Amino acid sequence: MTAPTTAGPSLPGARDPRRLRSQRWFAPDDLRSFGHRSRLRQMGYAAEEAEGRPVIAILNSWSDLSQCHTHFPERVQEVKRGVWQAGGFPVEIPVLALSEMFMKPTAMLYRNLLALEAEEVLRSHPVDGAVLMGGCDKTVPGLLMGAISADLPAIFLPAGPMLAGRHRTERLGSGTDVWKYWAQRQAGCLDACVWRQLEEGIARSAGTCMTMGTASTMAAVTEALGMSLPGAATIPAVHSAHARMAAACGRRIVDMVWEDLRPSRILSPAAFDNAIVTDMALAGSTNAIVHLLALAGRAGVPLALDRFDALSRTTPVLANLRPAGEYLMEDFHDAGGVPALLSRIAHLLDLRCLTVTGRTLGEDIAGAEVIDDRVILPLASPLSTAGGTFVLRGSLAPDGCVIKPTAAEPRLRTHVGRAVVFDSYPDLKARIDDPSSGITADDVLVLRNAGPLGAPGMPEWGMLPIPRPLLERGVRDMVRVSDARMSGTSYGTCVLHVAPEAAVGGPLAIVQTGDRIALDVDGRRLDLLVDDAEITRRMALWRAAPPRFTRGYTRLFIDETTQANHGCDFRFLERGSGPAAEPEPDIF
Ligand code: FES
Repeated sequence: MTAPTTAGPSLPGARDPRRLRSQRWFAPDDLRSFGHRSRLRQMGYAAEEAEGRPVIAILNSWSDLSQCHTHFPERVQEVKRGVWQAGGFPVEIPVLALSEMFMKPTAMLYRNLLALEAEEVLRSHPVDGAVLMGGCDKTVPGLLMGAISADLPAIFLPAGPMLAGRHRTERLGSGTDVWKYWAQRQAGCLDACVWRQLEEGIARSAGTCMTMGTASTMAAVTEALGMSLPGAATIPAVHSAHARMAAACGRRIVDMVWEDLRPSRILSPAAFDNAIVTDMALAGSTNAIVHLLALAGRAGVPLALDRFDALSRTTPVLANLRPAGEYLMEDFHDAGGVPALLSRIAHLLDLRCLTVTGRTLGEDIAGAEVIDDRVILPLASPLSTAGGTFVLRGSLAPDGCVIKPTAAEPRLRTHVGRAVVFDSYPDLKARIDDPSSGITADDVLVLRNAGPLGAPGMPEWGMLPIPRPLLERGVRDMVRVSDARMSGTSYGTCVLHVAPEAAVGGPLAIVQTGDRIALDVDGRRLDLLVDDAEITRRMALWRAAPPRFTRGYTRLFIDETTQANHGCDFRFLERGSGPAAEPEPDIF
C-alpha cells in the first residue's frame, strides 16, 4: 500500500501568523484579546507554546458508549503529537459520538445534529483547521458535512476496522455473519451455546465493522474524495500503522492551514464522481448514496441519484469483500487498500483531483499495487461487471429507490409477487412470524412508514426478516421493499430508500396486501401493478398521520429533513456557507 504521507507543496513566505484566523482572537492589543490570552495562561500555556501557531481542533467523536471508537483517547494523543511536531497548537474538542449500535431509533436521526455541532464548533472557536476523528457509520458523514460547511482546512482520521471475528476455525464478519447465524437460530438449527460463542467472537477489538458495511464504505469513499491520507481508510484500528497515521494527520493538517487547503478546493464534481466509482467498485453500503448526496449538497456540487446509476453501469465490482464477496477489511488492507483498488480502476477516475496531501489523486496512488488478486480482483474477473448499487424507478418509486444486486439472490432480480404490507416496524415485529399469515416465499414483503420522516430517521429496517415458518423450510431470501435503509453489512433482495416515502404520501402509502408488485433489477424498475384509476382513488383517500413529535430535536428533524433522494440533510444547511457567514466576524 501507499504509506500515509505528510508531503505537500511548500508555499514560501506563506507561514505568516497574521494570516491565521485564530489571530483574530489572540493577536490584537485590546481588552477582548487580553481575555483570550490570559485564559490560555490559565490553562498552563506559555505565549511561545500557543501564539502564532495554527490552532488545530481535533473533533473527537468518542464516548463510553461509542464502541467502535474505544481507541480514540489514545489516538487523540498521537494526533496532538503530530500537530506539535509540525508547529501547530492542538485542542481536543469532544463532539457527539454517534454509536450505530446503541443509539435508538437510529444514529441516522442524529447525523445532522453532529453535522450542525461540528460546523458551529469550528465556526465559533479560535481554530484554523481540524482533524475529524470518526468512523462508526454516521460519524463520517456527520463530521464531514459540518467541516464542509465551515470550510476550514480539515482532514479526516478514520477509526479503522476492528480485527476479523472468529468462531472456532471460521472468520466472522460484522453484521453479515450475525444475520446468517441469526437465521439459523430462528430456524432452530443453532443452540444457545454456539450463539454465545459467536457473541464473544464477533467483535474482538476497537474499530469499526470489518465487512464492507457503511463505516468501511464511507472511510474508503472519504479517501477517494481526497479528504483523508492515502491508505488511511483500511488500516485496522489496533495496528501500529494506525497510530502512525494519526500522527501523520496531525502533521499534515498544520501544513494544510498554511496552504489554505480547504474542503471547497478539494470537493469538486469530479471528486464526487471518483467517490461514487469507488463505492461501486467496492459494492459499498447503500447508505453511502444518502451520505454522498448530503455531502455534495453541503459542498454546493450538483449531484442527483441518477449519477450513481450511470457510474454503476460502467464500474465493475472488484473488491471481494463481505457481504458481496468473501474477505474482510484487514485482508483488503493487506492487499493494498484503497490506493491499490484505485490504481486498478484508474481509467475510471479523474486523477487530477486535489487531495488533502496537496497533490493530485493520481500522484497519491502512483506506485500503489495490488498485493493479492483474490481480494482486489483483476478487471478481467470482477465480482460483477456492473457496479454495486442500482437505482430503480417506477410507479412505486417515482423519485427513485436503490438495491444492491450483488447482495441479492440472482433468481429474484426479476420477480412479480403478491404484496404483504406492514404499516410500521411494530406491525412488522408483531406479525412477521405468525404461522397463520399465509406468507409464501414468492410474496413481496413491504414495510412503510420507516423513512426519513415516517420512522423518523430512516432506520436500518430495510432487510425485513424472513418469516420464521419460511426460514424453517430453508428460505433465505425474498423480495423486500421499504422506505427504510439497510445496514451495509446486510444482504438480500431488499429494495430500499423508496422515495417519496409513505409518510409524505408516496405511492408506498397506498399499497395494499394482495396487490402485485413487479421488480426488474436489470431494467431498473419497481412497479405497483394496480391500474391508474385505482391508484388515483386510493391517493385521494390517503391522509397524513398526525404528528407524533411536537417538540425538541425530533420536531426539528421532521420539519426540515429532505427525502432520501436528496440526502436527508436539513434544508437550511444544504448549501455550504463557509467562514464568510460567521456571525458578526468583525466584533471580536
Ligand atoms: Fe460502529 Fe458498525 S457499529 S461501524
